[in-house]
Formats: sequence, structure tokens, C-alpha cells
Amino acid sequence: MNKTGTVTLETNRLTLRRFTPADAQDMFDNWASDSVVTRFLTWPAHPSVEVTGKVIADWVKAYENGDYFNWAITPKDSGRVIGNIAVVNLNESADAAEIGYCLGRAYWNRGIMTEALKAVTCYLFDTVGLNRVAACHDANNPASGRVMEKAGMKTEGILRQSQRNNSGICDAVWHSIVRSDIEKQ
Ligand SMILES: CC(C)(COP(=O)(O)OP(=O)(O)OC[C@H]1O[C@@H](n2cnc3c(N)ncnc32)[C@H](O)[C@@H]1OP(=O)(O)O)[C@@H](O)C(=O)NCCC(=O)NCCS
Repeated sequence: MNKTGTVTLETNRLTLRRFTPADAQDMFDNWASDSVVTRFLTWPAHPSVEVTGKVIADWVKAYENGDYFNWAITPKDSGRVIGNIAVVNLNESADAAEIGYCLGRAYWNRGIMTEALKAVTCYLFDTVGLNRVAACHDANNPASGRVMEKAGMKTEGILRQSQRNNSGICDAVWHSIVRSDIEKQ
């Protein structure tokens, strides 16, 4: 794989870019403090903007590594950070990545995460040179599965009671797209 790291990506409506320390308040206000957003995630909603600042500081340090991929999602019309999309697991020997994402509630159901996931998937195939991009969601969170489908991923199956998130132990529904899927299209 090519360790090109988190570079800025443009889509029709979005700029996907690195986080900076100045994003802490927007991240806290728009999604990190919202327990509805974190309902199916593994981390608890942030109790203060200081916690968000520490998380972002860790991310900014990690950008020094070319195998760290974590984008702030910013609409071009506002420039404010409204969510993130990241590689949460990287299997270098298999050229395979797992993606995770979240978005502020005020921005749901406008196709934003689908647009972001398509751009990140293209980058991971075309520039980083990966062979497989996968993601999974709690079976009780079908909106996330819909994003994966709309971005071209195929459903692989369900790993029953395989994960724990803020809603408890859950069935994880896995989706992926592999290079040969794209080549067939
Ligand atoms: C899941 C999430 C990322 C979706 O982002 P988004 O920008 O709203 O997604 P999109 O608008 O691109 O697509 C959402 C799709 O889900 C559908 N949807 C929404 N709620 C749904 C529900 N309860 N059941 C089934 N489908 C649903 C929408 O209709 C839309 O599909 P459509 O375009 O065919 O109509 C966002 O809701 C989120 O951040 N949730 C909290 C964090 C989270 O759950 N992250 C994923 C962890 S795996």
C-alpha cells in the first residue's frame, strides 16, 4: 500500500480534510456531545469540549503517520466540521481497511455520508492502492447499512452478538467493496 495519509478530498458539496485543534468546539457541538449520535458507537458522548480537544490532539499527532486516515467532513457552503470518516482498522498485509463514520444529527438524510464514503473509497483504491474496503453496523442501525449499500458495498453477512456498543451487545452486519467489484463495473 501507498502510505499517502489523510489528504484533502473534494466532492460536489464537501471538503474532506484533516482535523485541526480549532475544530474542537464544532465537533463537540455538532456530534461528539450528542448521545443520539453515539447510540450505536463504542465511545461515550463527550462530557466537555476539553475531552473533544484531547481527542483531536491525538488525531493531529497521528497525521504524522502515512497510514493514518481520518477526515473532517466540512460542507463547502459553511466550512464548519459536521462529522468524520476514518479508517478504523487497517490490515496492511491484506491491503484491507475498515471504515467508521459519524455525522451531526442536524445533517442526517441528505446523502452527505454516502458522498463522503464514495470519495474515501475511491481514494483508498486509486491512491493508497488497497484491495478491500469494508464497514459494519449494528443491525438496529439500518441507516448506516443503507449508506454502505449506496456507496457500492455488498452485504457479506451478520456476525451474531459479535460486538458491544453503547446500546449493548449487537449483531454486526458486514459490507464490503473489493477491487474486482469496481473492475467489473
Ligand atoms: C448513519 C449515518 C452516518 C448516516 O448518514 P447520512 O448522511 O444521514 O446518510 P445518507 O443520507 O447518505 O443515507 C441515509 C439512508 O438511510 C436511510 N434511513 C434513515 N433512517 C433509516 C431507518 N431508520 N431505517 C432504514 N433506513 C433509514 C435514509 O432514507 C437514506 O437512504 P435513502 O437515500 O435510500 O433514502 C448518520 O445517521 C450517523 O452519523 N449516525 C450516527 C453515527 C452512526 O451510527 N455511525 C455509523 C456507525 S456504523
